[in-house]
Amino acid sequence: MNEGDYVVPQHVAIIMDGNGRWAKKRKMPRTYGHVQGSKTVEKICEDAYKMGIRYLTVYAFSTENWKRPKDEVHTLMDLLRDYMKDCVKTSKKNNMRVRIIGDISKLDQDLQESIRTLEEASKENTGLNFQVALNYGGRDEILRAAKKLASECMRGEMTAGTLAQLDEPDFENYLDTRGIPAPELLIRTSGELRLSNYMLWQLAYAEFYFTDVLWPDFNKKELQKAIDYYNKRDRRFGGI
Ligand code: IPE
Ligand code: IPE
Ligand code: MG
Repeated sequence: MNEGDYVVPQHVAIIMDGNGRWAKKRKMPRTYGHVQGSKTVEKICEDAYKMGIRYLTVYAFSTENWKRPKDEVHTLMDLLRDYMKDCVKTSKKNNMRVRIIGDISKLDQDLQESIRTLEEASKENTGLNFQVALNYGGRDEILRAAKKLASECMRGEMTAGTLAQLDEPDFENYLDTRGIPAPELLIRTSGELRLSNYMLWQLAYAEFYFTDVLWPDFNKKELQKAIDYYNKRDRRFGGI
């Protein structure tokens, strides 16, 4: 960053981790941590927008999270169900556009329906662009994109010439994040230093901020710290 100019990233991606440990510390069931965590999401959306962030993408459920005990998966799906319904109102109140990234075809029909209703109801909103990654995996997203492209070729919708010319921005149109700029900053809470299959394509040049704070405790002050850290980075993009 050049000295003097303070920049707020346009797009921030968050791996909301540590709900289970937060609950355990309080001798409560893990699911209590998820309930608290979902409250944190709502607050952070408002704070992020006020701070000047225009796109926020949060990791809510990964393609690997199906490995968790049935009960926990069930509670998470119920929470997401409630969230999609409540969010029709909150998105209107906050002028927020909500989109889901991930393979929603594997979710229960009624949840898919609520997702479509929410996306449709909020699509004209001009405030925060809020993406929820749900049954999302970076590898799965890239694989689905490649399959979409291959099937267009097989159906004869794309010529060999067009395929040969296909560049990175063209390929991005096949990803779930089509039309959404890449995140400049990734935040992961709870002290884990890994990507866990999150936005592998989109995070290629993001700055990474890790904090030990557990997701339910994350707040505006912590978000500000992450942006301060971002401002100390020297983004070179392969140059000098
Ligand atoms: C993150 O919290 C939320 C989801 C993965 C759904 P965790 O549930 O992973 O909490 P920890 O990592 O076990 O503490
Ligand atoms: C990543 O957290 C997924 C979400 C936050 C939804 P995990 O808790 O599932 O990641 P690992 O298992 O520690 O890598
Ligand atoms: Mg975790």
